[in-house]
Amino acid sequence: MERTLVTSALPYANGFIHLGHCAGAYLPADIYVRYLRLKGEEVLYVCGSDEHGVAITIAADKEKTTPQAIIDKYHFANMEAFGKLGLSFDIFSRTSIQEHHETAKEFFGDFLKKGLLTDKEEEQFYDPKAKMFLPDRYVEGVCPNCSYDKARGDQCDSCGAYYNQLELKNPKSLVSGETPVVKSTVHWYLQFNLFQEFLETYIEGHSHDWKDNVLQQTRSWLKQGLAERAITRDLDWGVHIDGIPGIDKDKATGKALYVWFDAVLGYITATKVWAKEQNLDINEWKKWWQNDGTRYLAFIGKDNIVFHTLIFPAMLHARGENYILPDNVPANEFLNLEGQKFSKSRNWSIDLKDFIIDFPESNYIDALRYTLAMSFPETKDADFTWKDFQARNNNELADIVGNFINRTAHFVSKQYDSKVPILSDKYKPILDEWNKIVENKDYVPVFNDSISENDYKLIRSLSDGINLVFDNYNRFRFRDALTETMNIARAANKYFNDEEPWKTSKSDPEKCAKTLFICCNLIYSIAVIFAPILPFTSKKILEALAQESNTGEANTNHKHINFWANASKLNLDQGSQLNKPELLFVKIEDETVQKQILKLGDNLEKSKILVDETNITNLITIDDFKKIKLRTARILEAENVPKSKKLIKLQIDLGNEKRQILAGIAEHYKPEELIGKLVVVVANLQPAKLMGLESQGMLLAANGADGNLTLIHPADDGVGIAAEVR
Ligand code: MF3
Ligand code: ZN
Repeated sequence: MERTLVTSALPYANGFIHLGHCAGAYLPADIYVRYLRLKGEEVLYVCGSDEHGVAITIAADKEKTTPQAIIDKYHFANMEAFGKLGLSFDIFSRTSIQEHHETAKEFFGDFLKKGLLTDKEEEQFYDPKAKMFLPDRYVEGVCPNCSYDKARGDQCDSCGAYYNQLELKNPKSLVSGETPVVKSTVHWYLQFNLFQEFLETYIEGHSHDWKDNVLQQTRSWLKQGLAERAITRDLDWGVHIDGIPGIDKDKATGKALYVWFDAVLGYITATKVWAKEQNLDINEWKKWWQNDGTRYLAFIGKDNIVFHTLIFPAMLHARGENYILPDNVPANEFLNLEGQKFSKSRNWSIDLKDFIIDFPESNYIDALRYTLAMSFPETKDADFTWKDFQARNNNELADIVGNFINRTAHFVSKQYDSKVPILSDKYKPILDEWNKIVENKDYVPVFNDSISENDYKLIRSLSDGINLVFDNYNRFRFRDALTETMNIARAANKYFNDEEPWKTSKSDPEKCAKTLFICCNLIYSIAVIFAPILPFTSKKILEALAQESNTGEANTNHKHINFWANASKLNLDQGSQLNKPELLFVKIEDETVQKQILKLGDNLEKSKILVDETNITNLITIDDFKKIKLRTARILEAENVPKSKKLIKLQIDLGNEKRQILAGIAEHYKPEELIGKLVVVVANLQPAKLMGLESQGMLLAANGADGNLTLIHPADDGVGIAAEVR
């Protein structure tokens, strides 16, 4: 392929972007695009705001303002926040602009001309109080198939059935809460059924290179059979269709395009606007959309799958004119926050703009990119936690990447006047050997004075590591790519340790110079391979090295230099100047993440996260701990407590005495499983009465995040009873 076109789902301009969105459709695309640009490939990355549809009008009602005010507010806010996250769109456009209305109307007009659209009068739910026809997302009722009582307008989340809105029982409007009435209205229907076979062939053609989650959802739609779909709505806000050539003006008055019909075309509009802004030829956009040399990748979240694997491809195909189809749709699953779904109404969310206010420095932005990428929901839902953010920043970015670079820079500044050390004649052969090792993975040099096994191992891990990163990116396995990238930094750190330059600087200065010559070059390699993930940090490093600072920024298509291939080579000249980069990473304190956790949800939810070892305000002394007598004991008898769902009555043997303990474990264990088990008990707990029975102690158990409870047993049963647990 000659070039790659990348799109990220156009976010609705009705709310602020949160971190879940970032991990779904935006950051993966940005990392991928930067990676391609660093390889010198021609790529275009387009995105923009999705500014039509009922979601916008409802937000306007809620905020007591106009749709235009809503889209302006969120379009610019999201664009700014995306920019600060370092997303390198070539353009971030919007769908409310004139150019976009033109594009969308062209498609509609073309389909009308081709006879792919039929207008029909149909009955639909109408909310008399809100004075609007209700889109599927805004009616709820009882599923005609399974009787689930929170079924949506045309689809049941419980049994998966699709049906006609009017089949829904006991419908309720989610806009006003009222029961809707049935009213008839005219709409234009696109004959998607005509594309069934075409789409089946298209999808099966990708059965080997698309992700399972994407194939599965798409196939299940195809299996149900594609039906005609209304592509217009009764709405003031949107792309009006009444002026379209060939349309019946009376019927078309007051009708706008269904938001999904115009939204996906927003990618094309954005490309046209980009070309114009870059002062390129008026037909430049066609090179990206109507040329077989273009590979098109659509990055999205899982809720947008069929729109990108079926509906949009059907539209592009129907239009003809050599429009290309997506080559891949690498959809992600969802990201959760501290174990729960993102939810703005429950205050369980982190808006990107708020993160940026609290962590404005670029090192934290890069740490966020890194943390999110390490938990991209690639194959299943994943979780963002503040503690993970802290740990990734402190233990990986600061302790591995930052540490290696700082040690090297510090050493070079003290011992070599901040210049890349010069190799003595003895070590000069390493320059050639290096290339041989990189170019031929079977080549093993003869280890001698000039190249050691340690040197060889390092070069191999660098070169093989970069190839692995490359492989994983190509298969959209970002987490693995990133893990391999970090492993290269680990190898560099290890090399520094193993070479012990602080010793050789006195005992063997020639060797010391070689070590540091290599370490300086590794800094360059690290800056390049981390650039897609940590663009701000890479830029700082490359500037300190006085090297061309390419981090795969937008509109850098003219370069065509493969920086990626160079990353496994020696790039810095001997004797060249090396400056200490500005501060790369700063450790994050416990209090900082606790403050963030305190912002989430209600008190109960946040206390669940806070109650644990990092809650440093609750530290106890060793003497406090010693007050608790923990002993091993064996369970002799166990029986359920009548009328209690939770309690089991146990008789235990503590060695010098037998005791009765009531344990709240009946939902997790059957009495018969417990008999004979060696457990740990709190032996000096005040007795208590539960359901009229005395309990003389307590068992230790671990309470998992999923609510499952498991008893603590000594790893070796041989310790027997009455052993002290410390
Ligand atoms: N606005 C939609 C959402 O946020 C996505 C639109 S993707 C596009 O879910 F392709 F239609 F632009
Ligand atoms: Zn159902």
